[in-house]
Amino acid sequence: MGRKSAKASERKLKRKQEKEISDQLWTLVKNANDVEKPLSPLVSFTKYVRNGLNVTIECRKREEMDEKTMNWAFELTKFYMQNTYEECGWGWRDKDKMNELKEDQAIFLIARDENAAPVAFVHFRFDLDYGLPVVYCYEIHLVKEVQRKGLGLFLMQILQLLAIKNNLFKVVATVITMNDVSMKFFMDKLKFIEDDTSPDDESYIIVCKHTKHNTNTTLSLT
Ligand SMILES: CC(C)(COP(=O)(O)OP(=O)(O)OC[C@H]1O[C@@H](n2cnc3c(N)ncnc32)[C@H](O)[C@@H]1OP(=O)(O)O)[C@@H](O)C(=O)NCCC(=O)NCCS
Repeated sequence: MGRKSAKASERKLKRKQEKEISDQLWTLVKNANDVEKPLSPLVSFTKYVRNGLNVTIECRKREEMDEKTMNWAFELTKFYMQNTYEECGWGWRDKDKMNELKEDQAIFLIARDENAAPVAFVHFRFDLDYGLPVVYCYEIHLVKEVQRKGLGLFLMQILQLLAIKNNLFKVVATVITMNDVSMKFFMDKLKFIEDDTSPDDESYIIVCKHTKHNTNTTLSLT
């Protein structure tokens, strides 16, 4: 006979609690991904008529993306990012970027002008990032003609609302620090902050904007 050490029981209980929390957090991501039409509850965010722009915004999951729009999104990304990727040391490979855009989890916001031509897109995902449920913004690019008219801000507000609606903790993005436009946009315009997971001494930082859901569950995780 004897008594199992109290420490061993505590460890077991802690592991059980951690597993329960991690299952709950994963369920949040799964539930967000299970929503068929993520933009449906945000009807007023499907149009942007301001500053001389009149665009319609649609949300498409990877499997709903037609080849033409996917290729357009790839070419726009390449146009803006290839040099930066090469200069910051990441290097650029068409195949890698295309594979990233085509991953099953990818979701897109596409903004189209009055002629239905695409003028901007966001690639994002509902995912666990370092164990926390987030909206991860992989890309946001606008054609030159529609830049600096508030559309980028509007598209990022949609991501923030999707995070809130789905009880996710934050919107996260990776920003290459030598990309001045990107740094200004995320830090100055959107008021993102450097995320706890951001590395030191790298060519990029991780930035984020929290939703109010963050506070409680993070506390119970620690
Ligand atoms: C960065 C981008 C997504 C912002 O979208 P947008 O609709 O132009 O931005 P908004 O009008 O909502 O906000 C403008 C803010 O973005 C930043 N910004 C955008 N273009 C900029 C530029 N050419 N130079 C400096 N800052 C710029 C500034 O903070 C600006 O604020 P300000 O106009 O008050 O100075 C868009 O300009 C773009 O696609 N640029 C080219 C591609 C690119 O750099 N993509 C990387 C994004 S991570």
